[in-house]
Order: sequence, then C-alpha cells, then structure tokens
Amino acid sequence: MKRLYLDYNATTPLREEVRAALIEDLAVYGNASSMHADGREARTRVEEARNRVGELLGAPAKTIVFTSGGSESNNTVFNTMRRLASDRNGAPLAGGRRGFITTAVEHPCVLNSAKYLESLGFRVTFLPVDQYGKVRMEEFKKALNEETLLVSVMMANNEIGTIQNIREIAAMTKAAGGWMHTDAVQAAGKIPVNAPELGVDYLTMSAHKIYGPKGIGALYIKEKAPLFPLIQGGHQEDGMRAGTYNNMGILGFGKAAELAKRDLAAYGREMGALRRRLRDGLFAAVPDIKINGHPEDVLPNTLNVSFPGAEGEAILLSMDIAGIEASTGSACASGSLEPSHVLTAIGAESELAHGSIRFSLGLGVTEDDVDYVLETAPPIISRLRSMSTVYQD
Ligand SMILES: Cc1ncc(COP(=O)(O)O)c(C=O)c1O
Repeated sequence: MKRLYLDYNATTPLREEVRAALIEDLAVYGNASSMHADGREARTRVEEARNRVGELLGAPAKTIVFTSGGSESNNTVFNTMRRLASDRNGAPLAGGRRGFITTAVEHPCVLNSAKYLESLGFRVTFLPVDQYGKVRMEEFKKALNEETLLVSVMMANNEIGTIQNIREIAAMTKAAGGWMHTDAVQAAGKIPVNAPELGVDYLTMSAHKIYGPKGIGALYIKEKAPLFPLIQGGHQEDGMRAGTYNNMGILGFGKAAELAKRDLAAYGREMGALRRRLRDGLFAAVPDIKINGHPEDVLPNTLNVSFPGAEGEAILLSMDIAGIEASTGSACASGSLEPSHVLTAIGAESELAHGSIRFSLGLGVTEDDVDYVLETAPPIISRLRSMSTVYQD
C-alpha cells in the first residue's frame, strides 16, 4: 500500500543529495580538533558546513554554534540568561534584570525552560495570542519594561504555522535593553530567515526539519551577545559548546542548509500551491470545518484543520490505515490526552481542539497525493461524525 507522509513538521526524511553526501562523509573520521591531516580535513569540512548554515541565515559563519538540535539551542539561551542574572545559589540577583517574556504557544523546550526559571523565582510572562496565534502587541508592550532580560518568541509555530513579526518584537526588545531570542526551527528553510536583518541576538534552528540528519542543530549568536555553555568540557566551538565534533551530523546539516537556501523560493511556491489545493478541496468536500492559524502569515507547508464532531486521534488512525500519515498537533504532545496548548491558546473550544489534524507538507508531495487525501479523508470524517452521539450536522 502507498504510504503518504504528511508530517514534515515533526521531522523530514533525508534529501537524496544529503544522503549521498553523508555516505561520502562517513570516511571523514578525524577529530576536528586534532592537528594532524585527518583532523584538519574534518575541521575544514566542519567549517564549510558552518558557512553554509550561516548563509541560510544570512549570517557570518563565526556567529554559528553547532548543538545537538533545537532543544539544546533553546535551553542554552535560557541557561545563559539564568547564569547572567543569578547569584551563586541560582536565585535571581537582587537589583538586576530578572524578567522573561515568551508566548503561550512556544515549543515545550522553551515553555518548560521558562517554567523552570519561574520556579527559581524569575518573573516570566507567557504572552497570550490572538485567534490566529499572533502575539497581541498591546500585551507585549505592557509586559516589556526595564526589568526585561530576555524575550523569546518563536518565528513560526510548529502546530498551526503562524508566523510572528519578529523584526518588530526584536526592535522593541532592543530599545528596552533586553536580549532577543527566536526559535526559528520551523521557519528556517521554509520562509526567508535573515538573522541580522531580524535584529535578534539569538536564533535557533534544527537540521532534521530541513531534510538533514537528526541530533544536530545550531544557535546563531550575534557578536557580543553573551553565552554560557550548557555543556561543559573541552574548547570546541570556541568554548561555547563542548564535545567532540559530530562530523556526520554537521556535514549533513551543511548540505541540507545549502540545498534549502538554493530551493527556498521554489519551495515556497510549490508548498503554497499544494496547501491551497488541500485547503480548498477540504472546504469543498467537508462541511463545517475550521482552519487554525493565520490566514496569510502562515508557513506555506502547514495546514491545521478542525473537524468538529470527529475525534482527532480517530481520524489519524483511520487515515493511517489508508496510508496517510499526519498528526494531531506536535509529535512532542502525542500520547497526551490534554488538548494542544497551541489550540487552547488561540481560543479553540475543547471539541475543536480535540478534533484537529495537522497536515504538514514537504518535498516530494504531489498534487496526486493531495487528491488522494481529498478522496480519503472526507468519508472518514463523515463516518466518525455519524457515530458521534453529540454532533449534529
Ligand atoms: C518550534 C520547535 N522548536 C524546537 C524543536 C526541537 O528541536 P529538536 O527536535 O531539534 O530538539 C522543535 C521540534 O519539534 C520545534 O518544532
């Protein structure tokens, strides 16, 4: 049976060119910190990869630190701020800046980092968002003050695809004297992301969302922004992240970043057209549905749809039997009976939040694939709705 993968926001397969490059790179075994020829060869390739990742973000290579992924990059930023603002016992320094601002719709690795700091005594504001998932700027202005140490707002949401106005948020943060971080894990490679132009101090990305390997990511750090290593050890990455260089991960990441930059415009056009086809087709075939996320400022590959009267997990399982792999929200939240924190934050009622499916499209998906979803999903929804004891159409 045909399997149709539509869960590209959870992770992506390796691109063919990345796989080929990785197979070649398997031979590069030198420790990139060693001075001999094998070490130097590994190091040269690591630095080429750093250049490519930097180029995807419009940033010089020296601003890029490799990490094990988006979660580590985000944790590194929060840990840095805690170190900047804590006394020897980890409690907030008296008299210093101790305010953190983030949003209610961040990935759990940001939300839980912020909650941890809150438990240590730091002041954390979790900004509400509007019905489309956008930060309410008036709430942001109210929260931002001379106490604010860090503002961390994701560039694009993993569940509903809403894109935030990072440039404006960063400008206001800098004017107030705070540090600005954005989690661009879902944005990089899908929409233009230029870290210097955004005006952020820190920016997070992850290779496995852009057709690169898992377990490798990067943190962009603007020159002169502070950084304390999360992982202590050797002097790799200029002392900013210890641990023997992950040659394979880094080289694969570099290749994936190079291809993402080359194909960015075509990706946006193609994904946008497929998303519209899927959205319009679902509207035509299934009554009473709702699209979650911003109508325009949204990732070209992400379509989150609520089907009232049908349970999200039941839809997923039925689609999986028919060969279609999607998601009810984020991969990190699956297995949880709680409705998605993102859908709750945009004000979706419990029934809508429980009946939502995230289709996330990616390279290799075709119009025929979308048409297969449009043939397969509507009868599933109407069967589930007909079994519901409460749903009335
Ligand atoms: C927005 C966002 N941030 C961070 C992460 C975590 O990245 P990683 O899986 O590389 O740790 C993810 C992954 O799902 C994500 O979607």
